[in-house]
Amino acid sequence: MAHFDENAKPFGNKWLDERIGLNTLTRVLQTEYWIPKDINFLWAMGMVLAATFGVLLLSGIFLLMYYKPDANLAFDSVNYTIMTEVGYGWLWRHVHGVGASIVFLIIYIHMFTGIYYGSYKRGRELIWLSGMALFVAFSAEAFSGYMLPWGQMSYWAGMVITNLFSLGSIEAYGLVEWIRGDYVPGDAYLTRFFMLHVLLIPLVIIGLIVLHFGTLRLPHVNNQEGEDFDYKEAADLYKAGKVKESKVIPFSPVFLSKDIFVMGVYFILFFYLVFYNFEFAMDPVNFDPADGLKTPAHIYPEWYFLWSYEILRPFNKDIGLIAFGVAQAALFFLPFIDRSPVVAPAHKRKLFNIWFWALVVIMIALTALGKLPPEGIYNDLGLFFAVAFLCMGPLLVWITIKEKNEMKGA
Ligand code: HEM
Repeated sequence: MAHFDENAKPFGNKWLDERIGLNTLTRVLQTEYWIPKDINFLWAMGMVLAATFGVLLLSGIFLLMYYKPDANLAFDSVNYTIMTEVGYGWLWRHVHGVGASIVFLIIYIHMFTGIYYGSYKRGRELIWLSGMALFVAFSAEAFSGYMLPWGQMSYWAGMVITNLFSLGSIEAYGLVEWIRGDYVPGDAYLTRFFMLHVLLIPLVIIGLIVLHFGTLRLPHVNNQEGEDFDYKEAADLYKAGKVKESKVIPFSPVFLSKDIFVMGVYFILFFYLVFYNFEFAMDPVNFDPADGLKTPAHIYPEWYFLWSYEILRPFNKDIGLIAFGVAQAALFFLPFIDRSPVVAPAHKRKLFNIWFWALVVIMIALTALGKLPPEGIYNDLGLFFAVAFLCMGPLLVWITIKEKNEMKGA
């Protein structure tokens, strides 16, 4: 029998299935991709993130048509051409600015949901690692984008952050200059960050999103009770029409319709911010053009980097850098620091619950302090919370080993 049906209608279902395995793809990625029923709206945050990334890409493409990557023209191309001359240029800019800020809020909610429910364990370690790689890539994307309007904060935050590559008292100044392409941020610096922002990092992000989705497919997403059940059995029940008895639903169209509902609510809030409250995403200091001879009184990063910045700041340069590295690495390797096999929501794990909420409080405190000038009591509090954050890793090891031993004893 011929392998291909000569009579199949071109671009019809059968025709495409014979050429690209359309039916298999639909089954694997949609109709037989089983999602547990016992999950809440927090499980829609991943799709909300993907959609926000789409909005950032689209608005970025429009901005790219008028932006000028030149240290003499960049500021005016954004603040004058795009904001006042281009039809709806202001709208694309506000969508892009609000999107860049809100995407981090959703990333943090998504990460903390994962921590709360222990979703980085039991076969889901690679989901977490690819997620953390996405976090790093989004951070690099946000930082490089922040350089582009070439305002005072772009310039000086760029100066401070690239100075970190002098590696404390190692003073690797050759490295800093290599990154900047000059002694101080200038034209070479701006054009390379432009390239990173519009090409290289978005490509990496797209690759990482595909990887993140790939790592999700086999372990399936976690559920509110951390229950591990037989997916095949549950899927068979569903397919046999016992929808109520089954613990799963298919990703598409059933779960996807719930995702789309949450996205709808999210985008109402999103566009409310775009039209009525966009100022929170725009630093007033950045409405002054970059000036290498006029240092702003107080240099700080955007809100989503403040907790990291505050871990670095209260120490001297060397210890600050080490503390910063340790904090990032601890978050990255969380699935291996957590020694407990228990997958359950935090409110069912006494000590872990206290640890989780302490982590939330510490990160909010660090974020608030990062925006304040490093003086007097703020400096002392900054040091206290930075040390507290660093203690959270060892504390988690201790709590989870204790939990593991209790399980063995039970
Ligand atoms: C920024 C781009 C990201 C996108 C587009 C994305 C997308 C998704 C999607 C669609 C899911 C499945 C549904 C859900 O649980 O929401 C998911 C799950 C997950 N993501 Fe992400 N994610 C991103 C970033 C991150 C980050 C930064 C982390 C943490 C380091 C992370 C960790 C996880 C974990 C642990 C799960 C599994 C949740 C579970 O099993 O219940 N993701 N992600």
